[in-house]
Amino acid sequence: MEIVILENSDAVAIEGAARIRRLLEDKPDAVLGLATGSTPLAMYRRLVADFRQGLVSFTGVTTFNLDEYVGLRADDPQSYSGYMSRELFDHIDIDRGRTHLPLCEPGTDPATVGPCYEESIREAGGIDLQVLGVGQNGHIGFNEPASSLGSRTRVKTLTPETLHSNSRYFDDPAEQPELAVTMGIATIRSASRVMLLATGSRKAAAVRQLVEGPVSAMWPATALQLHERVAVLIDNEAAAGLERRDYYDWVNRKQRQLLLRYGES
Ligand code: PGA
Repeated sequence: MEIVILENSDAVAIEGAARIRRLLEDKPDAVLGLATGSTPLAMYRRLVADFRQGLVSFTGVTTFNLDEYVGLRADDPQSYSGYMSRELFDHIDIDRGRTHLPLCEPGTDPATVGPCYEESIREAGGIDLQVLGVGQNGHIGFNEPASSLGSRTRVKTLTPETLHSNSRYFDDPAEQPELAVTMGIATIRSASRVMLLATGSRKAAAVRQLVEGPVSAMWPATALQLHERVAVLIDNEAAAGLERRDYYDWVNRKQRQLLLRYGES
């Protein structure tokens, strides 16, 4: 696991956007896995700014979002589809036909959504880079504690903590769905690379488990320890619970020296 501890949340956004830009320079038709929530917002703003300056183009890019609420329409501003339009897709040159979310609009049988989504990801050739946040309870996507580490895209019932934490996005609590369709933990692990972003002290406990805890379904993010290429980009506050922080900083200094000498592999 590559653990990159940065000064603050702005630095995390800058580094995350730079990594996406570098990937798209190498592979303009990359398949990106995208996340919603408050954490990636600053990174998306950065990518929009980079696009406006002509530093990056998304014309060949395909995207798959991690999750979507059950029962919301794509044009519902409270849906994750609405979030992605507002925060990223409406401001860049991406072909909207290549953007995917596991939509489950009213009238759709939720059980059918997961297998179709998995099939679409396979048809696109798999995800090159999956962007992730992490919940305070260690969830990735909406894979709540006790999710199977071998899970694929399916319906999940949200925990009371997650409902509480996400209630800020809903003006009327009665409109907040309690079910979501989410990529599974095995789906996320199938991505060639994973980049998890976490900022702020409320993420410190989850980050500690993710990096230093035992692999456990009770902290779903710990499943990333089994992945070959994971970068964890965190700020000082989110890193506050790490016991081996000095070591991670030292590793990074060494990695930078290697990079200067041999370039990126
Ligand atoms: P947040 O959510 O970015 O809004 O903190 C992250 C998550 O729940 O995965």
